[in-house]
Amino acid sequence: MEVIITPAPAIGGLVVDQIGALLDRKPTAVLGLATGSSPLVAYEELAARVNDGRLSLARARGFTLDEYVGLPEGHPCSYRSVIDHELVSRVDFAPGAVMGPDGTAPDLEAACVQYEHEISTAGGVDLQILGIGTDGHIAFNEPGSSLASRTRVKTLTDQTRRDNARFFDGDVDAVPRHCLTQGLGTIMDARHVVLVATGRGKAAAVRQLVEGAVSALWPATILQHHPHVTVVIDEPAAAQLE
Ligand code: F6R
Repeated sequence: MEVIITPAPAIGGLVVDQIGALLDRKPTAVLGLATGSSPLVAYEELAARVNDGRLSLARARGFTLDEYVGLPEGHPCSYRSVIDHELVSRVDFAPGAVMGPDGTAPDLEAACVQYEHEISTAGGVDLQILGIGTDGHIAFNEPGSSLASRTRVKTLTDQTRRDNARFFDGDVDAVPRHCLTQGLGTIMDARHVVLVATGRGKAAAVRQLVEGAVSALWPATILQHHPHVTVVIDEPAAAQLE
């Protein structure tokens, strides 16, 4: 695991340098796209480089990590809408090139199986962008998640619902209780993982990720077993590292 501690304004550029290097050698690359606030600096930079012609995603594909269950299509907080707004609408992905798990499916279990199938049919994820929750979750694999899990339905913890209430006008009751999420095993199949974390609120989770024992209690620690992980964090997020 490579840990890069850098001033926050440099984070977007560092992440997109990794994406650019991948696209240079593989224009048809498959990107794993996190939502939430952490990757926004990278999406900003990615859009800038696509729009000034330095990069193109025209032949690339994308898979989001997770989705709330039960938010109607087009709901501004659904991760489908968020990724469309923050990234897809601002770059040159081909229509339909970015997919996500279907939180509106009548059969959620079947939607999870289908999503795994879509990722593997695309050849797997080349570069997975991740954030990390204050409780150490990645995607929505909350503490206690199986370290080998695949895409499935999960219950969000009260902590995560409180953390995410900011996206729902501060109303924690509006945050769904369930989600579909790629599993830890699914994420571990990505060829390269780039995890972004900023701010003191992430310091405890980052400490566990980098220095803690591998445990389902801190799901991100499974990444210690991954052969190619790049962790890009600012000083406050690094504050508890030894
Ligand atoms: C989002 C996701 C989550 C977030 C995490 C951190 O698709 O999978 O694991 O990455 O909750 O969220 P932010 O970046 O908003 O602090």
